[in-house]
Amino acid sequence: MSHTDSSDTYPLPRDTSETDRLNEQHKCLVGAFGFHIHPSVPVAKEKREFRVADVACGSGIWLTEIATQYPHAQCDGFDISNQQFPAASDLTRDFNNRVHFLAQDATAEGGYGKAFEAQFDLVAVRLLHISIAGAQWTRAVQNAVALLKPGGYLQWIDWDPHSAHLVQSRPLVKHAAIDQLLGFFKQFLGALDTGATARLPEEMWTAGLVDVRSELFALDADLGWREYFLKTITTVLPDVIAKRAGQGPRGAADGMDWAGVKATAQEEGRQEGLWVRTEMWCHVGRKPS
Ligand SMILES: C[S@@+](CC[C@H](N)C(=O)[O-])C[C@H]1O[C@@H](n2cnc3c(N)ncnc32)[C@H](O)[C@@H]1O
Repeated sequence: MSHTDSSDTYPLPRDTSETDRLNEQHKCLVGAFGFHIHPSVPVAKEKREFRVADVACGSGIWLTEIATQYPHAQCDGFDISNQQFPAASDLTRDFNNRVHFLAQDATAEGGYGKAFEAQFDLVAVRLLHISIAGAQWTRAVQNAVALLKPGGYLQWIDWDPHSAHLVQSRPLVKHAAIDQLLGFFKQFLGALDTGATARLPEEMWTAGLVDVRSELFALDADLGWREYFLKTITTVLPDVIAKRAGQGPRGAADGMDWAGVKATAQEEGRQEGLWVRTEMWCHVGRKPS
């Protein structure tokens, strides 16, 4: 069982502001997708007790909302870092003994251990894209599938950050600074196997799931998401890139006036008719009974 802190490898800051950001992101994501659990997963409609796992759960907001919506659900959240887990006392107060969190690497050899094997009706994963690469994708899928009971469902929502690009709905909109930020973001992700998200359905079939359904959502059609994402690009990203530029090998990002780029990007972001196109996949598959 891993209790490591991933803050060295995870490119976003680890403090309460990151928890707040993840929680705000969650609200915008659910607003844009319109569901917590994909409607093809029957578990959500059933009144019987069911068990749900949230892999790479971050602050656990998706899971605690599931626990609130489904008082008969037993919920387990796993993340490589326990830094953003809710306090145990709050969980006991709000959910009695129904919700638990555990530090666990989703890509660990040997998976989650015998105690969790074939225990879950639904395993959910969301936004693991920039944290794993290469063969880790295969292991993460296999480990998630091992958690499922026969007949259980895996729901995996993720995207390829390289697919993010600026679009505009009117002429002569200024976007040089935002372009620059997106360019550096993609450059930093270059070593990662980000396109692997598109391979997920194949990985799910190979891991033994059936009825795999993949839907591509144009999240930027949702105005709440559009606003949130542009704000993240222009406010969070410059600081992340500036920090990474100082840590890595010397390159084009060194010596940049990051405060200036951030100010210009925010100015550009305030214009009408400019946003970042974001496509995100929702993959759902079932373990045969
Ligand atoms: C972008 S956040 C998404 C959090 C949450 N799923 C959500 O949608 O709000 C990515 C999360 O993955 C976690 N993570 C990164 N690598 C991991 C790994 N190998 N195993 C488990 N969790 C991991 C990070 O600690 C972080 O909490």
